[in-house]
Amino acid sequence: MGNKTSRFHFTRKPPKPKGYISNYHEMLSSFKLEEKSDHDEKEHLVHFIIKELFKGNFSSPIHNILSDPNAKILDVGCGSGFWLLEMAADYSSPQYFGIDNLSTFPKSTIPSNIEFSQHNLLEGLPFPDNTFEFVHIQSVGSEFTETQWETFVYQELARVLKPGGWLEICDPEIEFSNCGPTLKQLNLTVCNCLMAINVNPQMALRHHSLIKSFPIFSNVIHDKGHMQLGNYTHKIGKIGTLTMKEYSRFAYKGPIGKIMKIDPKDINSLTDKIEIECELYKPYYFYHRVCAQKAA
Ligand SMILES: C[S@@+](CC[C@H](N)C(=O)[O-])C[C@H]1O[C@@H](n2cnc3c(N)ncnc32)[C@H](O)[C@@H]1O
Repeated sequence: MGNKTSRFHFTRKPPKPKGYISNYHEMLSSFKLEEKSDHDEKEHLVHFIIKELFKGNFSSPIHNILSDPNAKILDVGCGSGFWLLEMAADYSSPQYFGIDNLSTFPKSTIPSNIEFSQHNLLEGLPFPDNTFEFVHIQSVGSEFTETQWETFVYQELARVLKPGGWLEICDPEIEFSNCGPTLKQLNLTVCNCLMAINVNPQMALRHHSLIKSFPIFSNVIHDKGHMQLGNYTHKIGKIGTLTMKEYSRFAYKGPIGKIMKIDPKDINSLTDKIEIECELYKPYYFYHRVCAQKAA
């Protein structure tokens, strides 16, 4: 990494994508800190969905790390910190770190084995090389352009991993299948807007082959979770539908709604339609978890 044999150049400050919005988070919502509890609720539901789909908070073979009091674990783009709070409660030996460019993580009542800090990954992670035994990054795929992933993000995550440590990336596909007409129009607009700022809505599908292309990584594992909405016999089908309905409300209220020329008074009926369509059409998408070990 960073030497002449690397496949990609190590660029500390990649150029920002051009466009009226800079990332997925901004695009999908008019998120402001005063809406934090609303935001936290959705993030918590998604956290629950992912945990249920993969039957756990991680897929990497890290059980020895989790019982090591000297181990350090990093969650990048930790959001409200649900993953870290659960991991730190379930496996209390390691020291946990969370960074996010927004300060949505808890500020008080934090377990003594977690440290949160506000930081932009694209400016480089604020940690020395070879610091962590495990680096986790979840639902952050669409926050970066494809070029930023290819030329900076994987390398930066690898840089802070200790040799022999594990990286785990978990992301959903943003393009859904089997949508009814209302969700299809919204989903298409979101995907088109992402592509306009050079974000690949299907980045989740690329992690596996891209990580495999880096000689620094080996033992690459690819796990898939099938997220079926509207299937109410499935434990998370109903939760998935309600989460989709609420994310749609957020999207209609924000820049996406403006692009689609949505009248705010129609938002409730549109989100109700999305809920009904989920039951009728049973849309689905996949979550992807890719785990890889840094060369020792
Ligand atoms: C969809 S949320 C996922 C949060 C959390 N990982 C989870 O699974 O619940 C994406 C997070 O990435 C953060 N993020 C976006 N761009 C970032 C950057 N450049 N550096 C650090 N965090 C970033 C956002 O602030 C947001 O909290």
